[in-house]
Amino acid sequence: MTQNRPLGFGIIGTGAIAGMHAEAINACEDSNLIAVCSSSPERAQKAAAKFNVPADADRKAFLSRKEVDVVCICTHSGNHLEPALEAARAGKHVLLEKPIEVNLERADALIKACKDAGVTLGVIFQNRLKPGYLKLKEAVQSGKLGKLLMGTAAINWYREPSYYSSSSWKGTKEGDGGAALINQGVHTIDLLLDIMGDADAVFGQVRTMVHAIEGEDTGTAIVNFKSGALGTITGGTSLYPGNPERLEIYGEKGTIILEGGKIVVYAIKGESSDNASQTDMGGSGASDPMAIDYKLHQGQIKDMVEAIRKDRPPMVTGEDARRSLELILGIYRSSAENKLVKLK
Ligand SMILES: NC(=O)c1ccc[n+]([C@@H]2O[C@H](COP(=O)([O-])OP(=O)(O)OC[C@H]3O[C@@H](n4cnc5c(N)ncnc54)[C@H](O)[C@@H]3O)[C@@H](O)[C@H]2O)c1
Repeated sequence: MTQNRPLGFGIIGTGAIAGMHAEAINACEDSNLIAVCSSSPERAQKAAAKFNVPADADRKAFLSRKEVDVVCICTHSGNHLEPALEAARAGKHVLLEKPIEVNLERADALIKACKDAGVTLGVIFQNRLKPGYLKLKEAVQSGKLGKLLMGTAAINWYREPSYYSSSSWKGTKEGDGGAALINQGVHTIDLLLDIMGDADAVFGQVRTMVHAIEGEDTGTAIVNFKSGALGTITGGTSLYPGNPERLEIYGEKGTIILEGGKIVVYAIKGESSDNASQTDMGGSGASDPMAIDYKLHQGQIKDMVEAIRKDRPPMVTGEDARRSLELILGIYRSSAENKLVKLK
C-alpha cells in the first residue's frame, strides 16, 4: 500500500523535540509529515499552525488517519507507553524518543505490543550517527583497538533551574524516571553499551545536590561488563558550566576518546593519528538542551523508512534501547541500597 508514495508520518506530542522530528521527516525524500496530535484542542490548533499540517486533539481520530504509516512518539518519557500501545494496535509503526520509557515493565509492555502487532519499533538515539562515533565503532568492530579493557562515559552537564521549574515532568520520577542520567546521560550511556557490550553488574551513587527536583542531578557509577572489561559513568545537570560529554574507549592496542561526539584522541599502535580526521555534526547539549540539529534525527527517520520498506530491524530497536534503561535503573537501585547490583 505504501510502495508508490513516501511513507506518511504523524507525531504525538508537539513540544520541544517534535519540531526536530517534523524538520527531519520533511527533509527526507521518502517520508512526509501528514498530521500531528496534541493533548488539548487549544494546543492542537497552535500545533496545526506551527507544523502546517492538520492537528488532532483526539488520539483515536489521529490514529484512524490511513495515510499515517509511522507515528513518532514525542510525549514526555513516562508517557511513551500508552500512545505507543495505541499506535501499534492501530497498525502504525512506532518511532520513540529516548529513553524508551521510565521503568522496565513499561518498556517491556511497549516492546511486546509492537511485536504482537507486527509493527516496527525504533528508538531515537541520534548520537549513534555522529561521524566521530561511527569511526570509533568501526575501529572497535574491525579489531583495531584489540580486546576492550575499559570504557568511560562522562556527561557532566549543566541545566539552569528554569529548565526544571518550567516543565511539569522534567526531574520527576513519574514523568522523567529520574533526572540527569536517564534524561541527559542516557545518550552517552547508550553509546558506551553499544561499544562495550552488556553490563553484568553496577555500583552507583546518585545525589540531588543543586536543583530542587525529585530525581538526581549528580551521579557516578562503576560498571562491570559481561566481557570482563571495566567502566565508569559520571553525569550531572548540576555541573556548571556543562562540559561536552566524553566517551573514552581503551583497548589493548590503543585509545579513542570522543568529546562532544568528536574524536579528540585517536591513538592506535602502528596507525597514524591523521586517521582521526572527521567532520563535526549534531552539536552537544552540554549547557543548552536544544543545541542539537535535526540532521541526526533525519538519519534515523531515513533508517526507519528503510527498515520498514526492507522489513529489517531499525538502527536502534526497542531491545537495544532497553539496555541503557536497565543500566541506569541499576545505578539508581545500587545507590538506594548502597550495594553492587547484578543486572539480568
Ligand atoms: N533525542 C534528543 O536529543 C531529545 C531532546 C529532547 C527531548 N527528547 C525526548 O523527547 C521527549 C519529549 O521531550 P520534550 O523536551 O519535547 O518535552 P516537552 O514537554 O517539550 O513536550 C512534550 C509534549 O507532549 C505533550 N503530551 C503529553 N502527553 C500527551 C498525550 N497524551 N497526547 C498528546 N500530547 C501529549 C505535552 O503536552 C508536550 O507538548 C522526552 O522523552 C525526551 O526525553 C529527546
